[in-house]
Amino acid sequence: MYNDNPTLEGLKNEIVECKQGEVFHKENPEPTPDADTRKFYIESYGCQMNFSDSEIVASILSEVGFQSTRNMEESDLILINTCSIREKAEDTVRKRLRVFDKVKETRPGTLVGVLGCMAERLKTKLLDEEKLVDLVIGPDAYRDLPKLVAEADDGEKGINVFLSREETYADISPMRLDSNGVSAFISIMRGCDNMCSFCVVPFTRGRERSRDAFSIVAEAVDLYNKGYREVTLLGQNVDSYKWENPETGNRVSFAELLEMVAQVYPDLRVRFSTSHPKDMTDEVLHTMAKYENICKYIHLPVQSGNSRVLDLMNRTYDREWYIDRLEAIKRIIPDCAISSDIIAGFCTETEEEHQDTLSMIELANYSMSYMFFYSERPGTVAARKLEDDIPLEVKKRRLQEVIRLQTQISYRHNQRDIGKTFKVLIEGDSKKSDQDFKGRNSQNKMVVFPKQEGLKPGEYTWVKIHDATSATLKGEIVEK
Ligand code: 5AD
Ligand code: SF4
Repeated sequence: MYNDNPTLEGLKNEIVECKQGEVFHKENPEPTPDADTRKFYIESYGCQMNFSDSEIVASILSEVGFQSTRNMEESDLILINTCSIREKAEDTVRKRLRVFDKVKETRPGTLVGVLGCMAERLKTKLLDEEKLVDLVIGPDAYRDLPKLVAEADDGEKGINVFLSREETYADISPMRLDSNGVSAFISIMRGCDNMCSFCVVPFTRGRERSRDAFSIVAEAVDLYNKGYREVTLLGQNVDSYKWENPETGNRVSFAELLEMVAQVYPDLRVRFSTSHPKDMTDEVLHTMAKYENICKYIHLPVQSGNSRVLDLMNRTYDREWYIDRLEAIKRIIPDCAISSDIIAGFCTETEEEHQDTLSMIELANYSMSYMFFYSERPGTVAARKLEDDIPLEVKKRRLQEVIRLQTQISYRHNQRDIGKTFKVLIEGDSKKSDQDFKGRNSQNKMVVFPKQEGLKPGEYTWVKIHDATSATLKGEIVEK
């Protein structure tokens, strides 16, 4: 299959060696029910990347004998993996820190650590502001956690917020936390080089770097062998994934990586997030069309539907470019669902420009969107160079208009699925009833349907849709 591309052929052979299990089969140790074992409790906020990072942290801690617990009252180490993307996200973290302080009072010796973007953004300031925080660890410093915990045990404050140009945690087998045993994240790259003017991520997560392609494929194989049937390849901007094998000089693009993971097993679904409109190539779209197991769903954040605002946001594409990408998706993958991120009330946005965002939601026919009003973040280009001049009430009103329209479009999108039959990967019991299963179709829509004997999570079934809300499809199992 890769014969037209000799560089990939070499890689594939090397990956077969991985598949035989020598490189990656590092099991997480079983928890030992030992009263002396120290326990850690971890909460994660923000993007999927943070949840994925927490699984790396859990693995690092379990290697040094810590056991995970879901009960913070019995933990010796409370960790919070934080998000800085909007002010509200940071407020939530500070509220949680107040709760952890209470646990510390009743359980002296318990350590509290702040991980992730807020740790990186605030650095030592966090130790000054939040007196009961013992550890501050940035996203590239998790390997240092055991050493910092030991130092904090001796009464010192532990801090490492060093950002790396190389760290990808490629060799660490994540310990799956709160997993449904069916779908899992695989982090394929870290950081972001894009410098969107509103965004704090390039400052908190550092420069973009791509992870070793072998270790990604090996992680997919490992997950499949453990019963998982869906992997989501994660990065801030997956389309700019590029990895060069240091031994052979072979290069792997995102389209090639996607193909390699899709070939692991035909019944292992592959998803990815997030795509950047400026980098999403037709090659990626053709790869998606070629493999049934690459899900027909793209998260393609537009942020704004107006070219002037997009320019101020430094998104490096305009409305026309984005529409061209939408058309390419429709042409190459007609059954593909598209979702978006939208920011209402960015600096200097006029009512007409806001209308352009609304018309883009209509035009793109998004199946869903994540919608926010602009929140100025210290240190970003927008904070330094642009005036945050849209009054809060106006931002909120525009956001409400965006949400109202998207809800209508999602409803219409889902209503159009009535009468269709989808292949659904069963994830578990539905939230509302243990008589029903929930699962997703290829387009990433949640489907709820009555259980059938003999079927279990991790298996595929065909479901014919007879009802839909703006958030969920409902149906019945049918023979296919
Ligand atoms: N204000 C509001 N929303 C933001 N996002 C990123 N930075 C900000 C900000 N300062 C949104 C973008 C991004 C998503 C992850 O969060 O839409 O795609
Ligand atoms: Fe932030 Fe833009 Fe990078 Fe996304 S692509 S993480 S919005 S800088």
